[in-house]
Amino acid sequence: MNFSQTVLNWYHHHKRDLPWRSTSDPYIIWLSEIILQQTRVEQGLPYFHKFAEAYPTVRDFASATEDEILKNWQGLGYYSRGRNMHKTARMVMEDHAGYFPSQYDKLIRLKGIGEYTAAAISSFAANEAKAVVDGNVFRLLARYFGIAEPINTPKGKRVFADLANQLIDITQPGIYNQAVMEFGALQCKPRNPDCSSCPLNAGCVALKDHRINELPVKIRSRLPKSRYFNYLVIVNEGQILIHKRTGNDIWRNLYEFPMIETAGQQTPEELLNEPAFVSQWGTCNVRSVSVPVKHQLSHQTIFARFIEIAADEIMTDTKPNTFWINVSEVDQLAVPKLIFDYFKKFLP
Ligand code: ADE
Repeated sequence: MNFSQTVLNWYHHHKRDLPWRSTSDPYIIWLSEIILQQTRVEQGLPYFHKFAEAYPTVRDFASATEDEILKNWQGLGYYSRGRNMHKTARMVMEDHAGYFPSQYDKLIRLKGIGEYTAAAISSFAANEAKAVVDGNVFRLLARYFGIAEPINTPKGKRVFADLANQLIDITQPGIYNQAVMEFGALQCKPRNPDCSSCPLNAGCVALKDHRINELPVKIRSRLPKSRYFNYLVIVNEGQILIHKRTGNDIWRNLYEFPMIETAGQQTPEELLNEPAFVSQWGTCNVRSVSVPVKHQLSHQTIFARFIEIAADEIMTDTKPNTFWINVSEVDQLAVPKLIFDYFKKFLP
């Protein structure tokens, strides 16, 4: 048996029963694929069920507000996925009369759909022979064929995509694509794979050359940058001041407390006495200060501090994108996990 037949044969015996595998609806497959980007299957599954139930068609998805989508997305991270999905759903309603496309060439033009996702949807929904290359496939191909080309450079991506397209079983591209991903996820695992039980072990270059732990090669990206967020928690007569994030930064359109970002860790006293702070917020009495909370994102480390201050008259001025809300209603807002964890102290 060659590589592809072996992988397919293994898949028939070992595949997981996953809900998006029993449909050919490109909309449902799109939901699953976007949710599973940068997300493990176990973590993504409850979100998949929640979205498929709340929005059974692309029309339902497009009719929701962005706030509602982001609220349902809360906790899954990489929120641009949710925002892009909402734009895509609306584009499908306008440009494709509500029919979610299943052809690669149409999919690739939609927001948030790159080569991987277009290949996944078109092969699973319409059996188009476009090979998927996700992290699992990079790992499997790099090890089996002994390829040390980095997987995250334009050249490396081309090398692996060309090879994957040569290997695809054109008689059943959808099943083949599911199979290589599943093989990478369950058998050719990132750490401590069980090579003794692997049906590809006789031909695996990395196993023969003792390079399983060296492959695939990835060029290290820049170190995460540290950011210091000072949140102002201001409660007055059962209401709390909330800010909606805007601009081109993390967590766009999510809610948080009014926040002052500083270049380094400052004491609350230093911060509250700075002229820029005083001119905006007046003089404040600090009620309590949290310990810094570390929140790790893929390329940023956020050090957040929550400073509870007493409201005075100046603070009741309206500030851009800032509003008061009943403390009991904060759980209706779409917020980063960091803020949600802090909200818990207000909720029953
Ligand atoms: N990860 C990304 N897409 C997947 C799929 N269709 N099945 C299992 N894991 C996946």
